[in-house]
Amino acid sequence: MSHDIRRLSERKRRGEPLSAEEIGWLVEAYTAGVIDDAPMAAWLMAVCCSGMTDEETWLLTDAMARSGEMLDLSGLGRPTVDKHSTGGVGDKVTLVAAPIAAACGACVAKMSGRGLGHTGGTIDKLEAVPGLRTDLSAERFLAQAGEVGLVVAAQSASLAPADGKMYALRDATGTVDSRALIAASIMSKKIAAGSAAIVLDVTVGSGAFMRSGDEARALAELMVSVGRRAGRRVSAVLTDMNAPLGRAVGNAVEVTEAVAVLRGGGPDDVREVSLTIAAWMLVAAGIPASFAEARSMAEKTLASGGAVEALAAMIEAQGGDADALDRPMLGHSARETGEWRAEQSGVISRVDARGVGYAALAAGAGRRRKGDDIDPAAGVCLLRVEGDEVEDGEAVAQVMAGSPDGLADALAELDRAIVISDELPPTRALIIDTIPPEDGA
Ligand code: URA
Repeated sequence: MSHDIRRLSERKRRGEPLSAEEIGWLVEAYTAGVIDDAPMAAWLMAVCCSGMTDEETWLLTDAMARSGEMLDLSGLGRPTVDKHSTGGVGDKVTLVAAPIAAACGACVAKMSGRGLGHTGGTIDKLEAVPGLRTDLSAERFLAQAGEVGLVVAAQSASLAPADGKMYALRDATGTVDSRALIAASIMSKKIAAGSAAIVLDVTVGSGAFMRSGDEARALAELMVSVGRRAGRRVSAVLTDMNAPLGRAVGNAVEVTEAVAVLRGGGPDDVREVSLTIAAWMLVAAGIPASFAEARSMAEKTLASGGAVEALAAMIEAQGGDADALDRPMLGHSARETGEWRAEQSGVISRVDARGVGYAALAAGAGRRRKGDDIDPAAGVCLLRVEGDEVEDGEAVAQVMAGSPDGLADALAELDRAIVISDELPPTRALIIDTIPPEDGA
């Protein structure tokens, strides 16, 4: 049955819930081009203003997941698990947690995104590895999942196409910021990608889309309930994103930092969040029964070198040069480099994640517009972090940029992001909260 999109927008604006049939029609008609962008944008804005019930969010997610191909990973002979982060600055957790989970016996078959606004994307980071392909067909994706047990590919156009189209429109019309739309967007892709278990890393703070713990908890609960309704085993971890995760922000530089963690070094915060997420992935996959066992399994695997081997096997299977992992910056070098220096002695009381994200973006590590090229060598490397004491004139951050203007803009962003004073930063928990799988652990 056909509907009038204008009536649906008016009703939504008044806060009336829509039926399964109406939501199904809306998703199908917009994906097929029967509804134009302008009326769809009005409906999205009505959702942003009036919200959706949990039932409507589920119906929207289900319709979006079914708008394209639904992958079936059930025949792979290993427990399948996916993870998703709601986005952050310096967030290279997938590059560490996914190889750990794969080396512990899970099959991690993951579709990842590109950078969005000030946040980085796993696909852009992986593409900094020379030769590595992320545009895999569904057949290749499934074959690599079976053979290697680890595959990370870009979102294919055939998977949840309704989200691809709606996301681009939300981005262009300022309608990203709705809990129901974010939950439906993320979970429709996760459900269509076929893993039986899903772990959500919901970031909180200045560098995240959710600024407060309450907002993040509400989003996490909504995504978990939608995923469970789709028959998946879902858990969520809320992690702090007020300061960048680790010291590296960019593409090649983040892969290098992730490899350092996989080899037993690297920053403690990246190691801690990655081990926590990897352990929950193992619990969700049903490999050990408890979180404590999973955590110890993840730590042993990391120490054994098994996880870095899993990452190298994945890189080779996707056509990449795994030897590049031994080269500084994967063999890339920046056209321009510069340092941000302290202008007074004191304590670093703030390194604002969003501000550092803007600096990396200005340097060339991200896109200002859809389709822009990114520079794999661009980014920011923090030489000092929150809580460190610094002397007047000391280098606090190194910037790698694609052009002199990019370097100047990035340094100006860091002027706003980094605060030196005589006050210590507030202590913040890195792992804020957890929603375990339904049966505890
Ligand atoms: N990431 C997504 O995939 N979708 C959103 O709506 C927000 C973040």
